[in-house]
Order: sequence, then structure tokens, then C-alpha cells
Amino acid sequence: MEQIRQYVDTNRQKFLDELFELLRIPSISARPGHNKDMIAAAEYIRGKLLEAGADKAEVMKTDGHDVIFAEKTVDKAAPTVLVYGHYDVQPVEPLDLWESPPFKPEVRDDKIYARGADDDKGQMFMHIKAFELMNRLGTLPCNVKFMIEGEEEIGSPSLKKFCASHKDLLKADVILISDTTMIAQDIPSITVGLRGLAYMEVEVTGPDRDLHSGLYGGAVMNPVNALAKMIASLTDTNNRITIPGFYDDVLEVSDEERNEMAKTPFDIEEWKEAIGIDREVGETGFSTTERTGIRPSLDVNGIWGGYTGEGAKTVLPAKACAKISMRLVPNQNSEKISELFARHIDSVVPEGVTVKVKSLHGGEGYISPINTIAYQAASKACEATFGKKPVPVRSGGSIPIVADFEEVLGIKSILLGFGLESDAIHSPNENYPLFNFYKGIETIPVFYKFFTEMSKG
Ligand code: BES
Ligand code: MN
Ligand code: MN
Repeated sequence: MEQIRQYVDTNRQKFLDELFELLRIPSISARPGHNKDMIAAAEYIRGKLLEAGADKAEVMKTDGHDVIFAEKTVDKAAPTVLVYGHYDVQPVEPLDLWESPPFKPEVRDDKIYARGADDDKGQMFMHIKAFELMNRLGTLPCNVKFMIEGEEEIGSPSLKKFCASHKDLLKADVILISDTTMIAQDIPSITVGLRGLAYMEVEVTGPDRDLHSGLYGGAVMNPVNALAKMIASLTDTNNRITIPGFYDDVLEVSDEERNEMAKTPFDIEEWKEAIGIDREVGETGFSTTERTGIRPSLDVNGIWGGYTGEGAKTVLPAKACAKISMRLVPNQNSEKISELFARHIDSVVPEGVTVKVKSLHGGEGYISPINTIAYQAASKACEATFGKKPVPVRSGGSIPIVADFEEVLGIKSILLGFGLESDAIHSPNENYPLFNFYKGIETIPVFYKFFTEMSKG
């Protein structure tokens, strides 16, 4: 422990400078205009993995953005940890709300501000530095592989196939991921559940052009009005989703487990204050953490159509669209839910408009068991570095590829995240506290140590 702390202390500035270099590369996977930045980021990471002590590190082609793969073998008989992370980031709009430019990282109030500071460049980079630390100190106890992808933020469209065609290369005993949150800086936690996702787009078409709303209003079905009605039909007054069959496969969580979950520290007042709301709202009969952790949800992510410029324009629009996502819980199947959604929308289309429903992407939820060596090792590692046993939490977020890892590679993942909910991932002013960055680098080598020891029995 002392040795680890010392190495982190001596290298604080170097670690930060190197992360900043990565944060300066605008690797936005969703924007084709940033393709050369994607390549630059991948190349940078490959170099850092080699420097850190990998036997080999390469940038590998997929059907989409490249994957960086690296490995180091210390002992064929020792276990192998496969680290997964992503180097792509979300778009940065609205730009005017950023206090400092998203790709000019800076430290303010002991936090790193930049797009990707937490999700996931900051968290992923901790693993490269922890790997370097173990190599320099000569304490790397097991074999390590890295798989860092560039398409997580667009739904990992190429990674499942990549995994299926590189099963041998990716063989490992556990997949280690830091791409989630912990409850607070003094409450370490291990994520034991992720939600799935079904992401839909609905397009409503009416007249063949925008019409004068005075000459035609009242006699033509307005696509925006129609879309609003259809969206309103998706939930009821108890905030339950009304799509027929939607809840059929939801696993009800036992009272015993709900009671256990209710003991997890959570301050509703602080939570509301942090996001500027005065009343929490959700499915009747469930608490806030249950609503995000064990229940599915449905949200309109964006809606457009008609005149949205300054002032008033009297127009009856020709078209309206919405992007709608559903967060799913384990055992719900995203393809089935997408179909149920489309069927429901078809059944409520008002007369006078036509509707197209498209599924943009989807993925399954994940439950990470706590009776595994990886969980015990992660728990002991947090206990060693935070001085407190971590709590298991079910997160509302999604990392769909984690379920695919289990399906395709047959490997379970351990979600050892160091982000905070206040890190504003995907939002303006994304940040990552220095404390979490360095604590992560400290904790990871301890995980390796316990995991290796416990694997050997
Ligand atoms: N790292 C996040 C997911 C996350 C964050 C899980 C915090 C748990 C706690 C990941 O990069 C992400 O943003 N995932 C997307 C899904 C993807 C298909 C676009 C999400 O959850 O919206
Ligand atoms: Mn992420
Ligand atoms: Mn993300």
C-alpha cells in the first residue's frame, strides 16, 4: 500500500499531464467529421500502453471505429484480467454553457473539467496508469489484457462482432470496467446492475408541405399535435408505461432485497438540490433509487417539428419527429420491447397522418453477482484504500456491451467505477475530481493483488 501511494504521489503531475493530452483530442464517435481525432486518440492510447509495459499493443480494425488491444503475460498459470473502457466521448453541445472549452482541460476546485474527464477517458486512463505502476514496482501479479473501444457512446455497433471473431485473443477470467459511479467520495460502491436500452425514432408525416395555419388549421391533422397525443398515450397517471406487454418480463425484486437496497445511503434532498428540482416524480409505489435501479423507464430525448425560430410564424407543419428511449431491466429483451413499442404506436396513430417507427439501437441490462472472486477482491481493495467496505448499487445507466461480453465471450464483468453523479457526464462542464482519479489508480493494483491471490485459492 505504502509503495503504491508513494508511486502515485511522485507521479501526480505526470499522470495528469498525460490524461490532459488525451482529453485534448475531440474523439466524438457520433460525428464523422471527427474520424481523424478518433484515430489520433487510439494511437495515443496504444503508445501509452506500450510505455506502461505492455508486451504488445495494437490498433485493430472493426467495422467502425478502431479498438486498441494490448496485453502482458507474466505467468501462463496466473489468472488474466481483461480491462475494458472507451475512448470515444459524447458531443459537447450546447457549447455556450461550458465554463471552459470542452477540449481544453483545466483543473478548477480540484476537479478536471473536460468532455471525457470522467466518461470514460479519465476512468479508463486510471487503468493504464495503475498498470504502469505495477510494472514499475514489479508487483503485477497476473496477466493483463486491454480492450479499449471507440463506439460505446453510439451503442457499440461493431464490438459484439469483434468479440465473436477474437474469442481466443480476448480469453480472460474477468472483465474489469471503470465506467460507472460510486455513491460519494467517502462511500465506495460497486455497481451490480445496469439497465438495458431500446432507443426509437418516430416520424410523423401529414400534408406534403408546411401550410398556413389559418387557411388550413382545424381541417388538417397537425403532425406535431398527433405526435404529442401518441407520446401522451405511452404513460398513465401513475407514471407506468402503457405499452401492452411492456412489463411482462420484468423480474419483480423481492421485498427482502428491496429492504436491503433501501439501506444504501441516499439523501433525496441533496439529490433534488443537485439537479435543481423540487419534487421527484416516478412510478407509483417505488422509491427514487428503485425507479432508476430496478424499474424500467421511458423518456423522450428530443422532439422537433414546425417553427422553432424567434418570434411567431403561423404554420401547420408537414412533419414531426421524436427520439424516445426506454431503459430496461434485466430479463426484458430490447428487441421485443422495440417491437411492442412500434406496435403500440401503430395502434394509436391519429387519422390523417402516417407514422414511421425506427429502432436506432438497443442492448440488454446486466446483473453482476456478488458471490464471485472478482466482487470479493474489488470489495477488499476498496476497503483497503477507502477504509470502508463498498456498497453494492444498481445503476440506472447502460453499458450494453457488458451483457454481450457474457453472451459471446462467457466472461463476467466487475464494474468498479469511480465517477460521481455530480460529474455531469454527457452534460456541459463534465468533470472528474482529482481525488477520484488518484484514488482509482491506487485501488486498481490492490484489486489485482486480491484477485490473483483469491483465484489461486
Ligand atoms: N458510462 C456510461 C454509462 C454509465 C454511467 C453507467 C454511469 C452507469 C453509471 C456510458 O458511457 C453511457 O453513457 N452509456 C449510454 C448507453 C449507450 C448505448 C449510448 C447510456 O447509458 O445512455
Ligand atoms: Mn462511459
Ligand atoms: Mn457515456
